[in-house]
Parts: sequence; C-alpha cells; structure tokens
Amino acid sequence: MDEAILKFPPNFLWGVAVSSHQVEGNNTNNDWHAWEQDGKALHQQVAGSGPDFYNKYKEDFQIAHDMELGAFRLSIEWSRVEPEKGKWDKEAWAHYRRMLEDAQRKGLKIFLTLHHFTNPLWLVDEGGWLNKGVVERFVDYTHKAVKEVGDLVDVWMTINEPLVYASQSYLVGVWPPQHRSFWEARRVAKNMAKAHKKAYTVIHRSLDKKDKRVMVGFAKSVNTYQIYNKYSFKDQLLSLGADWVWNRWFYRLTRGFNDYLGLNYYFHFRIARARFSNWQFFVDIRKEKRDTSDVGWEIYPPGIFDIVMSMAHYGLPIYITENGLAAEKDNKRSRFIVSYIKELYHAIEAGAPVKGYFHWSLLDNWEWEKGYEARFGLVAFDPITKKRTLKESAHVYQTIAGANGITHPLLKFVGHVTLGEITVKEK
Ligand code: BGC
Repeated sequence: MDEAILKFPPNFLWGVAVSSHQVEGNNTNNDWHAWEQDGKALHQQVAGSGPDFYNKYKEDFQIAHDMELGAFRLSIEWSRVEPEKGKWDKEAWAHYRRMLEDAQRKGLKIFLTLHHFTNPLWLVDEGGWLNKGVVERFVDYTHKAVKEVGDLVDVWMTINEPLVYASQSYLVGVWPPQHRSFWEARRVAKNMAKAHKKAYTVIHRSLDKKDKRVMVGFAKSVNTYQIYNKYSFKDQLLSLGADWVWNRWFYRLTRGFNDYLGLNYYFHFRIARARFSNWQFFVDIRKEKRDTSDVGWEIYPPGIFDIVMSMAHYGLPIYITENGLAAEKDNKRSRFIVSYIKELYHAIEAGAPVKGYFHWSLLDNWEWEKGYEARFGLVAFDPITKKRTLKESAHVYQTIAGANGITHPLLKFVGHVTLGEITVKEK
C-alpha cells in the first residue's frame, strides 16, 4: 500500500455520518413523516423504507470497518424511543443498544446525536421547539439516553445544526412546520441553546469519572463568506455580520458548554455589492460558471481551510462532523474528497486543532426537502433489495483513512486540481 505523503496526526479519526430519519427507514411517528404523507414536500416523495439502516446496520458498520474507518456518527430517533410523552419504548432502546454495541465491536468510536431535525408528534402537539417546555422534555430524553446507552458513547452531540433547523422550519419555511417568522426562529434557537446547556450538564454529571471526562458538544453548520472588494465598507460589514450571526452567535449563547467544536461545512458564499434594501447580497455563482454539486452548492475546497482557521481561536478541539456533496457522478465526489481533505491537512499544518473528519454520508439517503435524488453517499443502495454497492469514492476515502493521509497517486490522479478555482471569463 502506498504511504501518505500528506500525513495526518496519529490517532486522527476518519469517519462517516448518517442521521436516523435519513437512513433508518419506516420512521412513522415524527413530524417529517406526517409532512411527507400530507404531500407538502415539493418533490412529493416520502422517505419510506429508504436504505433500511434500522435493520441493516450490521452490514453498514461492517462496510465502515472494511473502509478502515475509526468512527461513526449517527443519531437516535427520539420518536421511536419516546413514542408517547413520558412513555419509553423498551424494545427501541434495546435496539439502539444492540446497534451501538455492534459498532463498538467493529472498532468504531460512536459520535451520538440526540436531535437531528425530527421531532416526535406528541412534542409537535405541545408546540415543539417554540414552547419553552421543550427544554425539560429534551432533558428527560437526555437522562434516559445516558442511562440506556451512555456507556457506549464516545462523543455526545446534543443537537444537529440548531440554526439550520430554526431557519429552515421557522424562518424560510421550507421544512415542517413551515412557519416564516424571524421572532419564532430566534425563540427556537434560544430554546435549543438552553436545551443543549442543560443536556451538557446532565451528561457530565452522570458520566464523568475521576480519570475521564466525557466529551459533549453539538454539530454546527458553518459557512464561509467571501467579498470581492475588500475596500468596500458595506461588503465588509455584511460578511462580518453574516459570519457573526451564522457562525458565532450560537456559540455565544452556549459559551462554557462545549468541549469541542463540531463543524458541518458545506457552503461558500460570495458577496458582491452589498445592498441592504433587499436580499440580493450574494453573487449567483452559476453565472460565473463555478463548479457546483448537483444541488447547486459551490465546490470550494479552500473554504474548509478558512473556516477551520477562523474557528481555531475558541481553543477547543475541532471535528469536521459533516462535509460532502450531492453528486450523481461519483468521480466528482472522489475529487471533492481529496481536494477538501488536502486543505484540511494544510489547516492542521498551520496549527488548527482538528481531531477528526466525518464524510457526509456513508449512504445515499433521504435528503430532506430534496428527496432521494440528491446523492450524498459513498455507498449506493437498491431501493427494492436494499443491496449496498460501494462507489469509487468509497475506495478513495478508504485509501485516505487507511494511509492516515493523502497518497501521491491520489493527488496525481484524483484530486491535485483544486476544484472551484475555475477562471471566470469576463463578459
Ligand atoms: C444535515 C444533513 C444533510 C446535509 C446535506 C446537513 O445540513 O445535517 O442532515 O443531509 O447537511 O444537506
């Protein structure tokens, strides 16, 4: 096997991430399921049985193990373990226990998310995350999770992307319950911050030992913002403001309650000629002919370097808890993986305390309002037989994980070219 020429630090964690509703299949007791049944999603699809991870987890952990990965990020489906308020489903907890034990046997460290966008229906009936009562409900759920599976978890992630949830569901209104209110979105974010802080304390109080403190944090979606004219005061102000609100405000709300930063990185925004009178701050990159994923998100590898360097001042260990792209053409994913990880290598060389990288995702899965057409997986599944097929990109990622870094052949044949740096032809 080829040696890595861009070597990562010893014990660097290579992993993959999934979430319950996106891969488990047959989640019928949460708000997303209800929304899908009502035909409210634009694509009119339903998540259905999907990749059936709920039953096929052994096979999937085996794939991760064979890919020489050391970690797996997944979530518990709250609506399965607490189908009615205050009533715990013993069998569902036992199922998750078996699942996590299997991952552990296969040498995978477990990063466990408690809330990944979906909510039990009874919680929705109480007003969901708008109702401040949700904080105590989430604390009860956390207590129970600690009791049932606490000994199997390596790193706790209370909530996935609080601001994405708050804005998609309560500001932009594209996810259930499809509200459009700045004040509601703000209230949801604040309740999530409170819930995180309380859950953080519960987990530490219950699980810390004299010689070992557990790690607790959340996954935060972070964006990079680029301005075209650094002498434009307005553009500067807008990019600093966007960076503060999107990347830092939630850390301010939860200050002192994070043992690490879990960063999900997907978006690079280009700002030109800021106008405060309307929302057209951003450059439409399609007009600039930049490389994008199938869902139009710009491919910009240096962004991962920038975001990691600019978050390093928090002085906390950093995990990239999600990074990936939707691509039918898998070769694009292979190049994406090498070029983003190469930038991560440079960030670590420059001193950033990055401890692990999780590719989103192991499997093609239910991409929320975009349905099954957006393919984020290293592994494809047959919708009928559920048979898994590894794509070329899975082998590329395996080479990196196995070598703990990037080998020369990978650079030479797959990812030397930094994507996203396509020269723009002036009109
Ligand atoms: C979410 C995932 C999602 C991915 C790609 C993240 O915002 O945590 O659930 O599938 O991005 O859109």
